[in-house]
Amino acid sequence: MKIASVILAAGQGTRMKSSLPKMLHRVCGKPMLQHALEAARSASDQTPVVVVGHGAEQVQKAVAGVQFVVQEQQLGTGHAVMQAENALKGQADYVIVTYGDMPLLRPETVQKLVDAQLKNPGSMSLLTVIAENPRGFGRIARHADGTVAAIIEEAVASPEQLQLRELNVGAYCFNADWLWGALHRIQVSPKGEYYLTDTVEIAVKDGLPVQAVVLDDMEETIGVNNRIHLAEAEAAMRCRINQRHMLNGVTIIQPESTFIEAGVTVGADSVLWPNTYLQGSTTIGNGCQIGPDSHIRDTKIGDACRVFKSVLEGAVLEDGVDMGPFARLRPGAHLGKHVHMGNFGEVKDSYLGEGVKMGHFSYVGNATIGANVNIGAGTITCNYDGVKKSPTVIGEDAFIGSDTMLVAPVTIGARARTGAGAIVTKDVPDDMLAVGMPARAIKKLERKLQE
Ligand code: UD1
Ligand code: CA
Repeated sequence: MKIASVILAAGQGTRMKSSLPKMLHRVCGKPMLQHALEAARSASDQTPVVVVGHGAEQVQKAVAGVQFVVQEQQLGTGHAVMQAENALKGQADYVIVTYGDMPLLRPETVQKLVDAQLKNPGSMSLLTVIAENPRGFGRIARHADGTVAAIIEEAVASPEQLQLRELNVGAYCFNADWLWGALHRIQVSPKGEYYLTDTVEIAVKDGLPVQAVVLDDMEETIGVNNRIHLAEAEAAMRCRINQRHMLNGVTIIQPESTFIEAGVTVGADSVLWPNTYLQGSTTIGNGCQIGPDSHIRDTKIGDACRVFKSVLEGAVLEDGVDMGPFARLRPGAHLGKHVHMGNFGEVKDSYLGEGVKMGHFSYVGNATIGANVNIGAGTITCNYDGVKKSPTVIGEDAFIGSDTMLVAPVTIGARARTGAGAIVTKDVPDDMLAVGMPARAIKKLERKLQE
């Protein structure tokens, strides 16, 4: 049994009023098209076909692992599916069709739809929902015996038809051979479009029963046509993600103020405090305390860490790290086990060995710091001379006195010490004490003439 999927993503999304194609607007950190793709993929066993048109190049760059077909002119959803015919004809027994602007549709729901069609003697099944607010959706008309008769688009519906409260969600499963023929039989609408929804009437004419799977969760059907819908989708997805983590053993003190993107993982018995943002590819181990007021992006955090009111990006924290409040890790910061980093510290592109203590007001960049080093308050690695970055190396068990300036490139030996306020411009050997300020006028700077 070959089950293919087609995702429609060629529309302009005019109502978004955006230079970014609608499909690439993000919902919980992922382009909405990506969410739609994941749902389709789980129910199909073939590479999904994505129909692109508006902003095709941008969309093609943003999404991987799919086959793209281009719909040059957007002549409607029926016309869009037709563009996939060459790619799929003879390749599939069934074809799932979904719309790229419906990020909340669950994989299980698409599976239900496929299961319904596998049992249907007719040629197609579709998802419907019963709702008071029709949101511009197509209306489902049923025959007196309860079988599906037609989908009537809002633009062409009569006043009585507008009263119908069963709505077309916009997800279908077709018998492939029948679909390719039916698409060519769709008549152009008064608005000049070929509606995919007209396939229902074609099936009925062919005497083939149309199967409807009625959804009870309206939330899954949120379609994004403007930025109000985008915010609704974001809120619904956020709630869903938070619930998934809570059911997996994560404590979330206040879900409404906890923002976890779709690709993040959090271990059991971790506690997330309010106003915390976990973004990108962040992973958090077990038994951590994260937040409040923390932003963490693309960062790997081990077990039993504490991150309190801090900002982290592209960093690695091994087990038992304790940091904050007001600490900042920039890309390439790697804190070994049990590192302690207190307030107003910044680390980038540096390794801090196990047990390093950096309590107050420090900047560490392009540095490699051995185990159990103490970085005194106000220590700075002067890693940039205005042209290039240079490295600082500190051996294990060294003690860097308060307010030390480490003028890179420079190496401090193991167990060495620097006195308070030292300005270190030359390497300090192992076990040595270095003090003092070498700063003195050595040459007149040349003035650069402005052009
Ligand atoms: C569509 C359905 C409607 C359903 C609603 C659910 C049709 C005719 N109508 O209406 O019954 O209730 O979705 O959300 O199908 N697209 C293309 N090429 C085109 C036109 C559209 O790829 O030529 C894509 C769009 O990018 C979008 C999807 O198809 O992802 C749906 O198009 P849209 O214009 O949003 O349809 P709706 O008016 O929402
Ligand atoms: Ca839509």
